[in-house]
Amino acid sequence: MSLQGINLLFQSKRSKLTCTYKCGNACLGECTNTSNNAYFGDVMSRRGVLKSFGLGVVTVGGGAALAACGSPEEGGAAAGSATSSKAEAAKDVKPLKGMQFASVEPNTEDKVVVPEGYETGVLIAWGDPVVEGAPEFDPNNQTAEAAKKQFGFNNDFAGLLEHPDNKARMVYVCSHEYSTEPQMFPGYDGENPTDEQINIGIASHGHTILEVSKTGKGGELKREFGPLNRRITGFTEFTLAGAAAGSDLVKTKADPTGTKVFGTFNNCSGGITPWGTMLSGEENIDQYFANAAAVTDERAAEDVKRFGVEEGASERKWERVHERFDLSKEPNEFHRFGYVVEINPFDPESTPVKHTSMGRFKHEAGNVHVAKDGTVVCYSGDDSRFEYIYKFVSSKKVKEGDIAHNMTILDEGTLYVASLEGNSPQGEITGDGDLPADGAFDGKGTWHKLLTVTAGGAESHVDGFTAEEVAVYTRLAADKVGATKMDRPEDFQVNPVNEKVYVALTNNSYRGASGENAKKSKEDVMEYAPIRENKNGLVMEIEDDFAGESFTWNLLLVCGDPEAASTYFGGFDKAKVSPISCPDNLAFDTYGNLWISTDGNALKSNDGLYAVGLEGENRGQVKCFLTVPKDAETCGPIVTDDLVMVNVQHPGEGDDATFEQPGSHWPEGGNAVPRPAVAMAWRTDGKKIGVEA
Ligand code: FEO
Ligand code: CA
Ligand code: CA
Ligand code: CA
Repeated sequence: MSLQGINLLFQSKRSKLTCTYKCGNACLGECTNTSNNAYFGDVMSRRGVLKSFGLGVVTVGGGAALAACGSPEEGGAAAGSATSSKAEAAKDVKPLKGMQFASVEPNTEDKVVVPEGYETGVLIAWGDPVVEGAPEFDPNNQTAEAAKKQFGFNNDFAGLLEHPDNKARMVYVCSHEYSTEPQMFPGYDGENPTDEQINIGIASHGHTILEVSKTGKGGELKREFGPLNRRITGFTEFTLAGAAAGSDLVKTKADPTGTKVFGTFNNCSGGITPWGTMLSGEENIDQYFANAAAVTDERAAEDVKRFGVEEGASERKWERVHERFDLSKEPNEFHRFGYVVEINPFDPESTPVKHTSMGRFKHEAGNVHVAKDGTVVCYSGDDSRFEYIYKFVSSKKVKEGDIAHNMTILDEGTLYVASLEGNSPQGEITGDGDLPADGAFDGKGTWHKLLTVTAGGAESHVDGFTAEEVAVYTRLAADKVGATKMDRPEDFQVNPVNEKVYVALTNNSYRGASGENAKKSKEDVMEYAPIRENKNGLVMEIEDDFAGESFTWNLLLVCGDPEAASTYFGGFDKAKVSPISCPDNLAFDTYGNLWISTDGNALKSNDGLYAVGLEGENRGQVKCFLTVPKDAETCGPIVTDDLVMVNVQHPGEGDDATFEQPGSHWPEGGNAVPRPAVAMAWRTDGKKIGVEA
């Protein structure tokens, strides 16, 4: 079996092409957090002188009954199945409900592989019509006007909501993180992109809102046209709200009010709020902007450096057509991206919002939990090496049915960043994964206030920063309060069943690195990041005092090949788990099991979706449910009682892949160009996912 796109530098599967177009080469570059954060105890002494929520709107994991209608979607994914011999041996510990399936073995197939007894299909793929009147996919005749109405590129986050007034339908929402021009356009010349290619690229970002219906085949869904269908793109108007809105830092020539922004970019993961909206994190925004060398303001210059903006031309060269992407001409446009955005999928005319009070960084996502007293807490990780984890605690409560009010909840409250400390002696953290003497990588943590926003104004809690500066230069502000450097925090989300919070820490090859990477290491191994040159990632479990300022944590998983001594699977027998590498997106089934999708599997097999037991003797039992095609990443998992959905992002995006020489032909097969798409899996017998008959 051939493995394309091996990135030898990190021994990770992320290809050069993915590095360039997905994260702006963040994975190849230097770590940009050069701060020397004060030890938490010093900060605390210095700061002394400074001063069940049952709305029932959302059914991400629900089992809403829908009338069967329509005929099965034609075409669809090639499917296969495989059974792990290791999983067979695991019969002595019966998997929990939701995890009772035969694990899929590691593989490099160019298809979606699911357990025996399951089948797969494709809901929608890049270029398919979303809005009525859009042309069918024709990669040789693309236009920006068509792209604004078709399914965008590289879908990432996904959510499924009840339809507000059509019981036979649901509403599927997703983000489109980035465009990969060499794979999208025949004969693409990266030095000389055409104006139309640039505008197609911009239109291929953003989001899709899509009405779907059941087909009658298990949980399978079918795409439909409907009044809620909508594309949000890099051209769509957004309202800037919260602490930074209207400040000088976000005013531009085109928008002297500092409140109106066109577009959203690099929308990675996200969340569905209890009030029925979609949150979406603007992540690697730096790569869309050019000429960072022209930024003269001292703090703004520090900020572009921290984000990693190119000093000269950008990779996609959008600045040639749209001046706003040129920092030498419009330095503040960059300050209008890097937020959590909120979209009301039920009103196609509504203007989406960017919530600046939750800070500006490489937001992986935003995930809301409503505490028992009605306080809204939104968690978000900053996905870069040695960056931080944040939460926002709202001062407003949810009002049932009042979406206008609810869409302002994330503008008023307090933004916090976390520090963590272990409870074992540092000398016991060897970097090789050896458990400390107390038998756990665990400890406690503190939430540090950065910013408090009220209806009357905003207050900074960071010495030397105004409130607007905290909202815009959040990473720089977080440095000052002693935030803890993590190993690329991705999804950060509350399990609604056990109310513990889980963080995927995808990897960090520079953690405690030696040799030629030593200068790129910004911190040695620590109990919260105990693996030297961490290639396979960690999953942390947190018990948070939701609206409060303290928490405890432990590492549930130290990922990798279970045969490697460094790995840890929550105490579960390592001979009886699926290998897992580079945890990224999280979901929970109705039984409370954790589901993890992976990005960049460093174990030389395809990325996948894994279920993880959390309770009792099943704690740490990892079972692979699905793998995605060659060179693809598994994104946006949705796990309902009768349907599993994943976003298959960047299939075939190997090192040197082009439109003419793709690394995959999924989903159509034959000689077709690969298309990012939404894959579904359901039980052939129509019964519940992962529950034995
Ligand atoms: Fe878009 Fe953090 O991955
Ligand atoms: Ca410990
Ligand atoms: Ca991610
Ligand atoms: Ca991802």
